[in-house]
Amino acid sequence: MKFYALIPAAGSGSRMGGGIEKQYLPLNDVPMIAHAMMVLAREPRIEKLFVVLSPTDKRWNNYEWRGWEERLQVLRCGGATRAETVLNGLRAMANVCDADDWVLVHDAARPCLADEMLGKLIDDVADDPVGGLLAVPVADTLKRAAADTSPGARVEATVPRAGLWQAQTPQMFRHGALIEALRAAGSDITDEASAIEQLGLQPLLVESDRRNMKVTWPQDMELAGLIVGQLNA
Ligand code: CTP
Ligand code: MG
Repeated sequence: MKFYALIPAAGSGSRMGGGIEKQYLPLNDVPMIAHAMMVLAREPRIEKLFVVLSPTDKRWNNYEWRGWEERLQVLRCGGATRAETVLNGLRAMANVCDADDWVLVHDAARPCLADEMLGKLIDDVADDPVGGLLAVPVADTLKRAAADTSPGARVEATVPRAGLWQAQTPQMFRHGALIEALRAAGSDITDEASAIEQLGLQPLLVESDRRNMKVTWPQDMELAGLIVGQLNA
């Protein structure tokens, strides 16, 4: 049983704006995706990294990836949604992976993963029959907005936060099970765990730390830069 990493990196970063796909935005001098790749590559149990790009990606080749050849395979088969990108990537990995091998799917837009959190995920999930993901318990009080209160949103209800967790990545599932789950799920799912859940299975929640944020909005860049600087200090 082996461990592989799959990094979906075929998004356009529409919420970030700015005309450059966010995985390539410079963060402490290197493109954001390189931070995610470096953490995964430092974990000795991970055999190989698969980066899944859009077939129309024009930027990857602008960077120097010398030294990565041994551990990295670039797949240009990204799809219209994250779920499609991951499924296409898993299919392309099938000549390397066995059905029982673990695949850790990790967003290119999560550059702040700490080595210890990655290690903890693998430690906790490697013997699990289902698989699991990094996640954090929700800290804030949650409000649901009422529909049609223009101008401005208004509170319809407070949603109890007990038992709620925020899903992060990596999400770690067996190659065969994940392909089956994503094939059966619609493309509206936003993480791998929800596809597995739709099969009636219960992924393990591995408590992570809040630094492993997803960079989504322009204001996230400043905080991500500070965290990446701390992690690499
Ligand atoms: N992703 C992908 N293929 C897609 C859409 C997203 O591989 N068709 C990847 C992104 O590149 C990113 C990860 O999935 O690494 C998380 O998605 P998200 O944060 O939503 O990134 P984008 O889809 O690029 O951003 P936005 O939703 O704001 O357009
Ligand atoms: Mg998106």
